[in-house]
Amino acid sequence: MPSSVSPSRHRVTGSEWVGPYTLLRLERGELEPGAPGQFFMLEAPGRLLPRPFSLCLAPPGELAFLVDPIGPGTEALCALGPGDEIHVLGPLGHGYRLDVERPLLVGGGIGIAPLPYLAEQLGGSPPALLGFRSDEHAEAAALLPGSEVVVDPVLVTELIEPGYDVMACGPEPMLHAVAALCPTAQLAWEARMACGYGACYGCVVEIDGALKRLCLEGPVLDAARVTKVRASNKLLQGAEA
Ligand SMILES: Cc1cc2nc3c(=O)[nH]c(=O)nc-3n(C[C@H](O)[C@H](O)[C@H](O)COP(=O)(O)OP(=O)(O)OC[C@H]3O[C@@H](n4cnc5c(N)ncnc54)[C@H](O)[C@@H]3O)c2cc1C
Ligand code: FES
Repeated sequence: MPSSVSPSRHRVTGSEWVGPYTLLRLERGELEPGAPGQFFMLEAPGRLLPRPFSLCLAPPGELAFLVDPIGPGTEALCALGPGDEIHVLGPLGHGYRLDVERPLLVGGGIGIAPLPYLAEQLGGSPPALLGFRSDEHAEAAALLPGSEVVVDPVLVTELIEPGYDVMACGPEPMLHAVAALCPTAQLAWEARMACGYGACYGCVVEIDGALKRLCLEGPVLDAARVTKVRASNKLLQGAEA
């Protein structure tokens, strides 16, 4: 659980399109950026519950999030403009371990969101493989200069070579494929989250063969630990949030 579960209010400093996604910049205030792969709960204007987002970039004085507008909460966040204010809580959960020798970043779609900050924290430009469903989505690869990019029907997992410490984030089928190829990979998983700090049990998934809260155990987990994601994460599905 974070030291405080009280969200703080933060001003939007900028909002720009990156392909079909929005890069939302917030004034950092007293918040720490945390470790790459950790997440923040952002107030979604007009919605009951906040939504979880990985930190994408941490420029001086700011926190930046890459948002895919897939529903009412994310659309409301993408509609924010400079001067608007929202409540923010974080950093939350466990991020990527940085004690790796040969990092290889692997991202699929909006799953590339935590990778620019991860690359920075690894000290520069580790190799990165990114996969997108269209050329428009692939415009987001500009956030990771030098990355190798594929567009469907080529799958990003086809490019993974042995011998790397894979650090991945992307849709669930991609993560299962990465886990099968690289049993030592670190993977950032997703589940519906209502609180982000262990109070609501909305994010329960099967980890190490038992039901556990992803917001506390993860979202980044060693590949071998996740046994099933979809099965138990039903609590918030379909709920008015
Ligand atoms: C730790 C974590 C980090 C995340 N980081 C990012 C990020 O950096 N950028 C980003 O754009 N999104 C990120 N997400 C996903 C984001 O939180 C959801 O897209 C958002 O909550 C959807 O809200 P909505 O109201 O727009 O859509 P909703 O109406 O809530 O959902 C739209 C559709 O997406 C499905 N859905 C929503 N959230 C999830 C989920 N977490 N897992 C599986 N299916 C889901 C719903 O079932 C529904 O079908 C992250 C999620 C987690 C758990
Ligand atoms: S999101 Fe509430 S317990 Fe995990």
